[in-house]
Amino acid sequence: MTLEIRNLSTPEEVRSALGAFFRSMVGLPPLTLDAATITDPGRYIGALDEGRVIGGTDSYSGYLVVPGGTRVPHAAVTHVGVLPTHRRRGVLRRLLAAQFDDLARRGEVVATLRASEAVIYERFGYGVASSARSVRVDARRARLRPTHPEGGRIVLVDDAVTTSRLRDIAGLVESPGSIGLPEPWWELQRLRRAGDPASVHVAVHRTGDVDDGFVIYRPEGSDHWFESSERTITVTDFVAANDSARAGLWRHLLSLDLVDVIDIAAVPLDDPIVVAVDDRRSLTLGPERDETWLRLIDVEAALGARAYAEEDPVSVAVVDPQLPSNSGIYEIGSKSVRRTDARPDVTVDVSALGATYLGGTRWRQLAAVGRVTVHRDDAIRRLDVLFGTDRLPFSGTSF
Ligand SMILES: CC(C)(COP(=O)(O)OP(=O)(O)OC[C@H]1O[C@@H](n2cnc3c(N)ncnc32)[C@H](O)[C@@H]1OP(=O)(O)O)[C@@H](O)C(=O)NCCC(=O)NCCS
Repeated sequence: MTLEIRNLSTPEEVRSALGAFFRSMVGLPPLTLDAATITDPGRYIGALDEGRVIGGTDSYSGYLVVPGGTRVPHAAVTHVGVLPTHRRRGVLRRLLAAQFDDLARRGEVVATLRASEAVIYERFGYGVASSARSVRVDARRARLRPTHPEGGRIVLVDDAVTTSRLRDIAGLVESPGSIGLPEPWWELQRLRRAGDPASVHVAVHRTGDVDDGFVIYRPEGSDHWFESSERTITVTDFVAANDSARAGLWRHLLSLDLVDVIDIAAVPLDDPIVVAVDDRRSLTLGPERDETWLRLIDVEAALGARAYAEEDPVSVAVVDPQLPSNSGIYEIGSKSVRRTDARPDVTVDVSALGATYLGGTRWRQLAAVGRVTVHRDDAIRRLDVLFGTDRLPFSGTSF
């Protein structure tokens, strides 16, 4: 195998890379779309064997909201695959190394991805930074409590014209873990919906004259819609910029005539819906599953960008064999983060640090299983105070 790893430069190369990705995924329905229009130009890194693309890793540019509300430059890593004919020969390792260099050159501070399997990415410095679960609502039983806010106005909109409107609404979300994605990703969503426009419903929530939330849902099994005793809608997107929008969107979903069941693929673990209904058993909560796998590309910039709670500083030694410039000791305090030569209070691998970064994994959990080495009593308690957030991180976006 004569392997060449490089950024793919032509639409033809990008098309063959996406073709190889779908081959590698086996069970993913292939897209009948032009790969070049739904990828972010210049960001696809390919592995070529005798000039033929046999694997690749891609990403979308954008931002990630970190605790405190700052938006840091972010790469949403996607389309990772190596053809079965070339697997387990170190191709992914070389692809990801090239991608780390590429992202660092672009000044991107963090990368995140959704993992097909949980055993692939930790060795490359990724950690699970947010989790999600599904919720299935029996709409015949679920009643919102009388205290549940009304929310604003709901407007049903024609999907064909809404992509930029939806993008603007998504841009208002400021909770940790939310991400911003570029035009090609939004184009991909639009094209997916355009395949079946009649069965896609888009409801936008308005507060005053500001659009501040939306849901997208579609019916399941509409061939037997009237005979079915379990008329089900699947909510593919639930985006709310504030609590009022969230409340209004839930009220809308639960007010739909003819709908017996509402399925939502992903909600945050602390979503208020659990305490919003009077009959808790009208909700079936799915198991917790990993959502955001997060890799710190620039540890100093990332740690400096997020907010911390009031607590005495802690010195954290970070070990990062793949991006050695990240390795070092950081003093993390409520007011500032700086590199230091002081003796560290704890030592942690960059993947475990990534898991804690958005406040979704507790230091105590990691220390209890030896993923943090503790050199000073009380350091873990203080880190959990510093990194604590008022809500669990959540993205809610697939890419
Ligand atoms: C996952 C995938 C990209 C790995 O590519 P690859 O070129 O075989 O990976 P590498 O040979 O570089 O492996 C690097 C290391 O990861 C390990 N690894 C890679 N894929 C793994 C998997 N699926 N399960 C367990 N370990 C895996 C390898 O054993 C190797 O470990 P080592 O360094 O300790 O020897 C490839 O198998 C694939 O395309 N799978 C199907 C599509 C997919 O799941 N893509 C990921 C989408 S998020």
